[in-house]
Amino acid sequence: MSAIKPWEELPKKFVNRYGRPARVFRAPGRVNLIGEHTDYNDGFVMPAAIDFDTWVAVAPRDDRKLVAYSENVAEGTEFDLDAASPQPRHHWSDYVFGVAVMLEQAGHKLRGADLLIFGNVPLGAGLSSSASIEVATGLALLNNSGFPVDLVALAKLSQRAENNFVGMRCGIMDQFISCCGHAQRALWLDCRSLDYRLLPLPSDVSLVICNTMVKHELASGEYNKRRAECEAGVSRLAKELPHLVALRDVTLADLELYGRDLPDPILKRCRHVVSENERVMEAAGALDRGDASAFGHLMAESHRSLRDDYEVSCAELDLMVKLASQVKGVFGARMTGGGFGGCTVNLVQTEHVEEFKRTVADGYEKATGRAPEIYVSPAAEGAAEVTR
Ligand code: GLA
Repeated sequence: MSAIKPWEELPKKFVNRYGRPARVFRAPGRVNLIGEHTDYNDGFVMPAAIDFDTWVAVAPRDDRKLVAYSENVAEGTEFDLDAASPQPRHHWSDYVFGVAVMLEQAGHKLRGADLLIFGNVPLGAGLSSSASIEVATGLALLNNSGFPVDLVALAKLSQRAENNFVGMRCGIMDQFISCCGHAQRALWLDCRSLDYRLLPLPSDVSLVICNTMVKHELASGEYNKRRAECEAGVSRLAKELPHLVALRDVTLADLELYGRDLPDPILKRCRHVVSENERVMEAAGALDRGDASAFGHLMAESHRSLRDDYEVSCAELDLMVKLASQVKGVFGARMTGGGFGGCTVNLVQTEHVEEFKRTVADGYEKATGRAPEIYVSPAAEGAAEVTR
């Protein structure tokens, strides 16, 4: 790691590119500790923001154009805020302009802006690089236009950009934690009411993230398919349970009683979501008690359920979890995020982290021929302006 923090170069680069100073905003990626594929079922999740961010430098223009340059891909592009019916371009800029479109549709008439963007959230790794771009851009554009910022509203708008502009039917988790994360805390979120609670992470335990280096490219097609399967489960179960709005309203006892006629794979998908919601509630209790072992067991059960019932894991994720589970000082390991590649999250006793990194990296590389990346990240603060 260089001594220079990634964003420190951005103001200077902005002046070089656009000839005037900028304000800088940042928003983090996330790791989900438990509660996977529950957010779009109105359920519970427990992510933490991580120490990887997208930074957006911004200064106003006199017209209604957005001019954006990405330092990551060394490419610039433009967008006209007055365009009649803006369309996605299937390009990184969709995350930027999609947020602008949603802000405008929500009644925020934006000023034009020059934007310089840089991020260090690993791409395609299931750590929410896209949510971090959306949130950092939204924060930058709102401030640039003099609007007050409500972080929960910004999370919803950023999700809408992903759903309606990018075309990925994600839930609210990633954008919400990018907006509302807190240092040293996991965030328990009720995705229906958006009530949340910050929970302490045990002080002698580290969050370790292992990147399989398998990009989760399949993810968005399979993801939308899983969502549709959950919706099919709800409409069938609603025949017996008329109060039902989402799988959040179903218990395991309901599934025992009324799930028998659900076809495969719908029953398995429902069983994952319903049991995962229960695990998140138990996991919150475990953190309240400072019980890392109980939390770790729930992570292991979550992984099994995602692998066998929700079928969103893959051989590399399963291997990474297996290797991790054999290392001393590991409380729990599971895949994190949408699945089909990407990362695992591990709860590791801090004094054993170095041994963990060595053992897991060696074992994984021997078995797959790929060198994994392993990140140790504290739970970090949510989106904010960067001031020096
Ligand atoms: C992706 C989505 C989230 C969530 C997770 C799975 O990260 O963006 O909304 O559904 O997958 O838990």
